[in-house]
Amino acid sequence: MGILLIVLLFWKEVKVLEIVTAEEAVFCFGVKRALDIVNNTAKSFTNDSIYTLGPLIHNPQVVKKLENLGVKAIDTIHDIDEGVIIIRSHGVEPGIIEKARNKGLHIIDATCPFVKNAQKYAKLLTDDAYQTFIYGDHNHPEVKGIFGASNNRAHIISNLQDLLEYNLEEKVGFVAQTTQKPDDYNNIICSVLNKIKELKVYNTICNTTEIRQTRAVKLAAKVDVMIVIGGYNSANTNRLAEICSNTGTPTYHIEIADEINWEWIKGKEKVGITAGASTPDWLIKEVIEVMSEENKEIEVNEEIENNEEEVKETEVIEEEVIEEEVETVEENNEEANEEINEEKEEEVQIKYSDNDIADLKKGQTVKGVVVEINESGVYVDVGYKTEGFIPLRELSNKNIDDPNKIINVDDEITVVILTLEDEEGNMILSKKKADYEQAWEEILEAYENEEIIEAEVSKEVKGGLVVDVGVRGFIPASHVAIGYVEDLNQYVGKKLKLKIIEVERENNNVVLSAKEVLEKERKQMKNETLDSLEKNQVLSGKVTKIVDFGAFIDLGGIEGLLHISEMSWGRIGHPSEVLEERQDIEVKVLGVDKDNERISLGLKQLLADPWEEFAEKHYEGEIVEGKITKIVDFGSFMEIEKGIEGLIHISQLSEKHVKTPDEIVTVGEEREAKIINIDPEQKRVGLSLKGLEEQEEKIVKNKTKSQKKSTSKSEEKNSSGSGATIGELVGDIFNEDNDD
Ligand code: F3S
Repeated sequence: MGILLIVLLFWKEVKVLEIVTAEEAVFCFGVKRALDIVNNTAKSFTNDSIYTLGPLIHNPQVVKKLENLGVKAIDTIHDIDEGVIIIRSHGVEPGIIEKARNKGLHIIDATCPFVKNAQKYAKLLTDDAYQTFIYGDHNHPEVKGIFGASNNRAHIISNLQDLLEYNLEEKVGFVAQTTQKPDDYNNIICSVLNKIKELKVYNTICNTTEIRQTRAVKLAAKVDVMIVIGGYNSANTNRLAEICSNTGTPTYHIEIADEINWEWIKGKEKVGITAGASTPDWLIKEVIEVMSEENKEIEVNEEIENNEEEVKETEVIEEEVIEEEVETVEENNEEANEEINEEKEEEVQIKYSDNDIADLKKGQTVKGVVVEINESGVYVDVGYKTEGFIPLRELSNKNIDDPNKIINVDDEITVVILTLEDEEGNMILSKKKADYEQAWEEILEAYENEEIIEAEVSKEVKGGLVVDVGVRGFIPASHVAIGYVEDLNQYVGKKLKLKIIEVERENNNVVLSAKEVLEKERKQMKNETLDSLEKNQVLSGKVTKIVDFGAFIDLGGIEGLLHISEMSWGRIGHPSEVLEERQDIEVKVLGVDKDNERISLGLKQLLADPWEEFAEKHYEGEIVEGKITKIVDFGSFMEIEKGIEGLIHISQLSEKHVKTPDEIVTVGEEREAKIINIDPEQKRVGLSLKGLEEQEEKIVKNKTKSQKKSTSKSEEKNSSGSGATIGELVGDIFNEDNDD
């Protein structure tokens, strides 16, 4: 926002007309906010009727434009039964909002935060049993709203005379209409300082108004004519016109450009322009254009030269002068306030409470309560005279499209004051900055105390991962896990437990390690597991590694060995026939050496013992079938059933002398063998092929005999038709054996 300065130079008698526009001659913050809300509502509620309770602002031209948008002003909520009702920047008494709610109307509150503050403090005062005065205009809707907020218990005074008519009580409090003149408010307060025991004064006057008025007065003092633009029904425009006029400079209040009378500026060199808080900039531009046109018409034959350098120079000088003036005004105000404060301290006991206006400064970190959330940011009550505003970009270090996702009304939050009062009188706050500072405090504390923190991995970068710990943190790839991680991307979006291993506040550098946390956890778990281990315990574990002689099983921070011989009751060639890596299994603890941290495990012990069944089912002398599984010097092993192997000693391989077992058997060969002994205790079975050899020979002999018999019988059979069965043959063999 800058000063608009137009210099028109007429080259004949070098006659110059300057038009200077005051810096503050634009919509104030509250009006702009209300207009934005209305425009957004018109876009969002296309199917509903939209109303404002009273004209949105005191400017008929703007109200007409809103009507064209479909936004209608109504006088009371009794006029409608449905639709959207927008509360204008002046606010309303709480009872009206309650009634609108009961009617089922959709309420959108565009009350200016400055006005809301005045309402809040009026309520606080009356709730605390203070005799409460509202300094303002009885008939102004804003004052009616403040009065309503005090539960209709406050007294409205429009001047000192009004106040003096009251018998002042011990506890007295004041709030003011936001557009009142600060000096007049000060005068009223000063006049009662000696008469009150306990005084609470809330400065609810809007700075925007004060600055606008101060600048208008200064400008009026320097120009030949002042033009004040704004609605005739606008209190602050009327006041502007009044105070400009009080400087002695001829002042004209207009609503639109057509009302300009050239006679006002005829022969003048400098015209000043200011405008009320609800005057749109397009109306101001129109006025300037009309005045420029007027000049052209008068000097119609004269050449106009626009001396840009002079314009710029004049602009700079003008800005400097105004800045100096504003500073002087602010200094004077500060001095005046100091004087008042000193006086107050000397003469009366003023009670301050938590609710008093906080003494704040730029850069300060304060706590506040969220009072309003909208799409452009969040309003926070930090105990100052106005509510502070957190723009969306200052809400979080992440991109936030909807503040409601991270914050709620009534939340208590910590913020940093970026600007105590900007040009529009707004306090600008940053939650992002407060969070950032808070995050650093926590990081440094966690680093010093070697605390473990949790954070989400936000992305993979070259050499590691980035985590959000309130500030940007980095995990080197070698610290992501115990052991090498091939795909770091799998961690993105996951929360990790981390230890801070390096901090450089000045370089915003935080280095973290997940590996150190995992190692620590593992060590702790290992000690706990080792302490609790006992022989014969059955534990759950995970296969971590398979080797030729067995497998390593993680029991929780410590590994045990499951030897291949303990995996199965039967013979297995390699552990991978039974297990695979990362498999979850149950194992039995066969032995623990805590000193050397060695644990031997068994798996077959948890499986049914085939020997028990075998001993019940089989007997010595039985002929069984099986497969030769192994040949050793002293004989060979034959698997009779799953998990049961018997030994055929070399002496039992044949009746004849056997030099090496492979003369008789080969691995994998299916054979029959005779059980010659069973020792369930030792889990041993003795087998023999010898007996079988004898039997086989007898079978062959009997077969020959039988064949001979069969030849003679067949001769007989030719007449009888019967033959020998295998059973008969085997029976014969056993009979012969028995005979033996
Ligand atoms: Fe609000 Fe001040 Fe404007 S009170 S509506 S910002 S004049």
